[in-house]
Amino acid sequence: MSNSNDLNHQPTRIDQFFPGLGARADRWRDLVQLAETWASDPREGAEVKVKSALTEMIPTEEFHAYPGSQLLSALWEHAENNEAREIANICRRVTRALLTRSYRQNDRNEDEADPSDEIAAEVMPPGLGSANAHRPYFEVLIVTGAPPARWPALGAEWRRLRRPQDPFIYEPVFVGSLEDAFCAAILNQDLAAVVIQEGFSVRSRNDAPILRSLAEAAIEPQAGVKATALRLADALKNVRPELDLYLVSTGQVEVTAGEPQADALRRVFYAVEELLELHLAILEGVQERNETPFFDNLKKYAQRPIGTFHALPIARGKSIFKSDWIRDMGEFYGPTLFLAESSATTGGLDSLLEPAGNIKKAQEKAARAFGSDHAFFVTNGTSTSNKMAVQALLAPGDIVLVDRNCHKSHHYGIVLAGAQPLYVEAFPMTEYSMYGAVPLRTIKKALLDLKADGRLHRAKMLDLTNCTFDGHIYNTRRVMEECLAIKPDLIFLWDEAWFGFARFSPFLRGRTAMGAANEIEAWLDDPQSVTAYERQQRELGDNPSNDTLLETRLVPDPRKVKLRVYHTHSTHKSMSALRQGSMLLVKDVEFPAVQAQFREAVFTHASTSPNQQLIASLDVARRQMELEGYGLVHNAIEVALAIRHAIATHPLISKYFRILPADKMIPVEFRESGFTDFLDPGTNWSTVRTSMRDDEFCLDPTRMTLVCGTAAYDGTQFKGLLAQNYNIQVNKTSRNSVLLQSNINNTRSDVAHLIRVLVEISRDIESRLSQGGPNAREAFDARVKSLMTDVPDLPNFSHFHDAFRHDAGGRTNEGDLRAAFYAAYDAAGCEYIKLADPEIDRRLREGPDLVSANFVIPYPPGFPIMVPGQVISRETIDFMRKLDVKEIHGYEAVRGLKLISPDALAARGIVPAPRHAA
Ligand SMILES: Cc1ncc(COP(=O)(O)O)c(C=O)c1O
Repeated sequence: MSNSNDLNHQPTRIDQFFPGLGARADRWRDLVQLAETWASDPREGAEVKVKSALTEMIPTEEFHAYPGSQLLSALWEHAENNEAREIANICRRVTRALLTRSYRQNDRNEDEADPSDEIAAEVMPPGLGSANAHRPYFEVLIVTGAPPARWPALGAEWRRLRRPQDPFIYEPVFVGSLEDAFCAAILNQDLAAVVIQEGFSVRSRNDAPILRSLAEAAIEPQAGVKATALRLADALKNVRPELDLYLVSTGQVEVTAGEPQADALRRVFYAVEELLELHLAILEGVQERNETPFFDNLKKYAQRPIGTFHALPIARGKSIFKSDWIRDMGEFYGPTLFLAESSATTGGLDSLLEPAGNIKKAQEKAARAFGSDHAFFVTNGTSTSNKMAVQALLAPGDIVLVDRNCHKSHHYGIVLAGAQPLYVEAFPMTEYSMYGAVPLRTIKKALLDLKADGRLHRAKMLDLTNCTFDGHIYNTRRVMEECLAIKPDLIFLWDEAWFGFARFSPFLRGRTAMGAANEIEAWLDDPQSVTAYERQQRELGDNPSNDTLLETRLVPDPRKVKLRVYHTHSTHKSMSALRQGSMLLVKDVEFPAVQAQFREAVFTHASTSPNQQLIASLDVARRQMELEGYGLVHNAIEVALAIRHAIATHPLISKYFRILPADKMIPVEFRESGFTDFLDPGTNWSTVRTSMRDDEFCLDPTRMTLVCGTAAYDGTQFKGLLAQNYNIQVNKTSRNSVLLQSNINNTRSDVAHLIRVLVEISRDIESRLSQGGPNAREAFDARVKSLMTDVPDLPNFSHFHDAFRHDAGGRTNEGDLRAAFYAAYDAAGCEYIKLADPEIDRRLREGPDLVSANFVIPYPPGFPIMVPGQVISRETIDFMRKLDVKEIHGYEAVRGLKLISPDALAARGIVPAPRHAA
């Protein structure tokens, strides 16, 4: 984070990973300081610094409507006239306008504006700036061949198109080249549409190598104007698919419009003769994203005088507002909540279970926004979305490869479906008592083992969590492609509970289920993919060994692939939806064939009384992300980077705390690009993109593992300390860490608060240590050692007992989870043994096997260390005994471990399953 007191600090480079609005404001504030230094002491050399800062900033500031060309030229003039005080004044106002976002309320007309004027609207609260102040604001990028000298006049022409009845207000921003257009799309978070007018050049008019490197990361300039326009459209769609793109051509628009690359365009116009049409099209395009069919109707519904003769007395709120006893609830929530409640599915409210009206439309919009073919709103959290997907797609006896550390909804879904889990293990991070993600090699090996056992046809699904709780992101495309090379119709269920927002980041999108599915779909359509497949087949030869297949990046046969991708996310975890708002997204070529069973799964799990407000919030969350998600996600990442930087560089905090960098979270063998961390000086747009594209695992920058064991706190203790003493809530904990998470809601004030608190806690440790003498130091060191070094080994899944493996293959570990789960319903067939009882050790040595009757899930770490039917190993017992957490679901300390008794197991008729050396 910038330190405005240090004029020698390096300002954030614009090609650095995710410079956001905050970084922009920082640069302006730095300029205030420099200009003031220059004003107070002209001999200090600040003049050179101011001029070089202006030279560096102006090319990118031109990508924004504010402060605009007149103010930027005024700054130059003041610099040339040595008017440092004036520069400081302007920069101060610009900083304030950026920070308060007041520039968005300003219906400016640059023709009339006097740049030296106070910019009144900058400091005005929303609604007071002008008659247009209530209208949402956005910016439109105009890529043009017109010379820059004409841009102000062209801008005036655009502004003259504004009408009082326009629902929104926008400012045009002009660029003259492909490079500048691409950079503007990345850097300007206010953009909602781009107008591409043929005749622009390829190279930036500024000689800015940083901009060039940004643009070159995504587009190779091509000869030919028309090709360039479509190429630009394609590049823009890749980074910001939500933007509406318009092409204005003087050529054969009929031909251009018919070209496949024109798919990226919303409309093609002939010349500029239809400027008003273009203006209306821009407004309509934004309006399409702005519409929230269900929420819009709900607002109307709440205004209507409706008599209710159905259940739900709370609807309309009369039972509340007339009551002496519960009126405070009405006062607390306000009347609208009750006016907007109904158990009816009429009046346009539609039915979540059989959507045919507004909910259907809202879901279609969500599907478009999130890049899927279908979207389903779910009002009972992703816990339910996962169970729906698992039940819809798996039948009894089907094998599902699943990360043992996945959320419990998957395990329970598998129990309900009667499918057989084949647990694949994530790489352990023993030092921090947590797991990473499942290596692709492990997944491929499981598939190849199934194949060797002649059971591959039973493997229906791969079910993984992306990203994991702690931030490990899969290379979703590579995982799917390589698995499809072994089993071309494998279904993928990606639990992206925490990762829904990633769709709106150009870095993260390719790593989402739908981002990758779209890329694979395009690849399947490309005739060259068959060639690539056949080439690899020739290279592999007949009957390649498993080792060869494990070592090779496998290419699937595009003619055989059936792309079947499902994604769930908790909209409420990363976007503006109410708690439990979740979505299930589908991109499945076989969906028509499974639609009926999918509906059954929805009927099984969905409440018949879904909450209207939840549905509305899903609709609204989609709207927000499509219109401002790009900037919001930038902000979340910027906040995370600020926290990471502040903790790493603070001399006191860094003595006791650290956030694990990417290279500590992801072993080197999974970081093929050599990426080490976001904070490394060499890290920039290009290195991050390479890592995101190539590496087996990446780290979500917004998920920060803060190690607190080095400050002698275990995770649970530290979480409690933050909550009770400082009103800071954090996410999950491990033995020696807590998970901090930034989201679209965080501000830099939150960062400042967190840093202050960490300083205070660090100071407190320092004073305890200095006042407590050697004893205090010894106790502290011992505690740190216990938390950081004496960590228990993480137990892998052992295997299912043979009683639950009757039809299993020899090489893999799947089992009948459902049968084991229901075995626990027979109380007489279960036994309890206390964890400390030496009987456990005797049974581990001499048998009979200890077989868990339950899921046992300690919090933290939150993954099941035992599942029903699992033979309990020495490692699992050791881990349990070392655990010092209080909350262990499925385990009652007073009774002990719940086991399926040897007699009950024998009664099931054990048929020892074949075992092959793997
Ligand atoms: C990976 C994962 N999937 C699913 C869920 C459940 O989501 P929800 O809380 O929306 O039911 C969680 C909850 O923490 C989770 O971590």
